[in-house]
Amino acid sequence: MKQGKFQYRYHWLLGLEEYFSAKENHSERYETFVKALYHDNWFRKRDILLDLVMSNGEKYKTDEAKGWINILLREHLDINDVKPEFVVSFLYNYMEEESLLKKLQQFVYAHKDMDESWSEDSIIEMPDIGDFLSRGQMKSKLWLVNKLKKFVDGSLGKVVFYGGWHNFIAHLLFENFEVDSITSIDLNPECMNTLKYMYDDEIKNKKFKPMIGDVNKIKWVEDDRYKFEGEDKTYYADLIINTSCEHMDNTWYDKLPSGTVVALQTNDYFDNDQHINCCVDIEDAKSKYPMSYTLYSGILATELYNRFMLIGIK
Ligand SMILES: C[S@@+](CC[C@H](N)C(=O)[O-])C[C@H]1O[C@@H](n2cnc3c(N)ncnc32)[C@H](O)[C@@H]1O
Repeated sequence: MKQGKFQYRYHWLLGLEEYFSAKENHSERYETFVKALYHDNWFRKRDILLDLVMSNGEKYKTDEAKGWINILLREHLDINDVKPEFVVSFLYNYMEEESLLKKLQQFVYAHKDMDESWSEDSIIEMPDIGDFLSRGQMKSKLWLVNKLKKFVDGSLGKVVFYGGWHNFIAHLLFENFEVDSITSIDLNPECMNTLKYMYDDEIKNKKFKPMIGDVNKIKWVEDDRYKFEGEDKTYYADLIINTSCEHMDNTWYDKLPSGTVVALQTNDYFDNDQHINCCVDIEDAKSKYPMSYTLYSGILATELYNRFMLIGIK
């Protein structure tokens, strides 16, 4: 299919396709959506229009429905700029039962002044969804979840993400495992703001905790208990997940106590300026992150680079 401007901008719809097609008993609605919007299939556009018509004004508000028809017929209505928030809102309303889409909707809301009571300070520019929901990103996250499933019987316990970023993986963990709690540590305060909106329910239920911090400054006070330099409060951890290894040096790993259970991903994408610590191959990854017992080591080829994953005990 010809790659138009829309397909280029919304390639992350294919990342979501990876997610939905991997789901057991997945609904066909996503397939209809992606065929209609991404592949410009007119029969599927018809199906969505039919859905709007049959809802008889009960399910969707008129101005929303008008906006979605604009997206579906954009080429014929001379609409060049379709904003991601409209595509996300369309998709979420079309498949409201899907919790990942609710998270995506909350992610978008966190970046929009949807509620007049919000202060100007709460509006931060929305990052490109394609950076974290691309096909390669989604495949790597599903890879991690599927491999973890093979080794975990029961609860994951207290999970701590190092460099947790926008943390859509946390949602995949909640969906696939029993989890005591998930803490997501990142240097970037903007990610924290967003996570507060995305995981508002889980934060209220003490299942999720976003934390600003430098993981290289974590001090382990016991084998399963850590704190940040200069602070007294300590926190427990049963599993450390770091899928951002290429963005930081090895200090965080060197500091982990022996016996810590770790799942990590790194890659050989040296051309990305933000990657300060890539690995040449899986052997390089094994020597940078030595484990006393390796449960899994493997390579996933994505379009631009290879991703390496290690799961095991330091
Ligand atoms: C851009 S993301 C990329 C993630 C990775 N490629 C993935 O797919 O999950 C890297 C994140 O690591 C965070 N980060 C880098 N160094 C860090 C550190 N020392 N402590 C905490 N977070 C860090 C950055 O702020 C950023 O949010």
